[in-house]
Amino acid sequence: MATVLRSPLATLAWWLCLWPTASSARLAETELLGPPLKIVVNSNPHYARPRALLMGTLKAAQFQNFSEMIVVLGGSQKDQVYKDGDITVVETTFMSYDLTGLSMLWRHRNHPWVRAQAYMYLLDTVTVGVGFPEKFENFSTVHRVGYHEYRASPFPSSNICLFGHGVVESYRSNFDTALAKQDGLWFESGHAPRGVRQLDKFARTISPLKAREEHGDPLDVYGTGFPRRVFWYPDLDLYKYIFWKGHGDLTGSSSLSSGVLTPAAGLLLAHPVHARRWEGPNIRDCSSAMLKGSRQAL
Ligand SMILES: *[C@@H]1O[C@H](CO)[C@@H](O)[C@H](O)[C@H]1NC(C)=O
Ligand SMILES: *[C@@H]1O[C@H](CO)[C@@H](O)[C@H](O)[C@H]1NC(C)=O
Repeated sequence: MATVLRSPLATLAWWLCLWPTASSARLAETELLGPPLKIVVNSNPHYARPRALLMGTLKAAQFQNFSEMIVVLGGSQKDQVYKDGDITVVETTFMSYDLTGLSMLWRHRNHPWVRAQAYMYLLDTVTVGVGFPEKFENFSTVHRVGYHEYRASPFPSSNICLFGHGVVESYRSNFDTALAKQDGLWFESGHAPRGVRQLDKFARTISPLKAREEHGDPLDVYGTGFPRRVFWYPDLDLYKYIFWKGHGDLTGSSSLSSGVLTPAAGLLLAHPVHARRWEGPNIRDCSSAMLKGSRQAL
């Protein structure tokens, strides 16, 4: 209404006044809120092997943005934030399985290495396909994740999702309640165990990602002797490996049949789905300090 009534001269004056303010406000916002997108990889000290495999596939896919990556290690000896090469590592004694990283995002929301306008929330037991770097770039540009937006596949999605910083500001301490493994599974299927509410409850916009698809036969991707089911997330070009009948194949040494370890890239290449999609160099090309200890674990 006001715009319709405004004279052309007034409109011009309005724009001249508004424009510099709006653009400097935008600049201030970028400085205040950090880069458009960061990846959070939720992990723990025992999962060096999956982490190394993920890092290896990122390198092989020629992912460039390790400085936009935060690795959260729940159940660590102490609380500290540091850089390992370009990667930000958040160690915490807090442990809430897949949700530890969400609690850490709230705790460190203003840390210069953690702050971002939106986050892509991943778990350590994933690997990426060759299309991942472009997907990442798109989520921070043409398909940018909004400040108050939550974007995820339908349940079950293993808590893999994207959300804006506004969602973190809104959920606050929601994820500071430590959930047991079983509570975590309950959460993953859409419930609110121990009062820990779902992420979408804190978003103003909810957008769907395509549902994940099961890909091929279960694969012993970590060489533990326990094949994991493989699920592909089309909108992320990401694979998630799930130990369907239980857990502990990676933490308990008893179940590790370490004698049968095959080079991980070989395993991925051998997998029919990966074989079609995979064209990267050998996984052992990873050079990040993050992998020094864990590369031996492969
Ligand atoms: C990722 O890295 C490339 C190459 O350095 C850069 O041009 C691009 O802006 C980065 N993207 C994001 C979202 O940080
Ligand atoms: C990135 O976005 C552009 C524009 O929508 C699209 O054409 C392209 O396929 C996207 N890339 C990927 C890998 O999804």
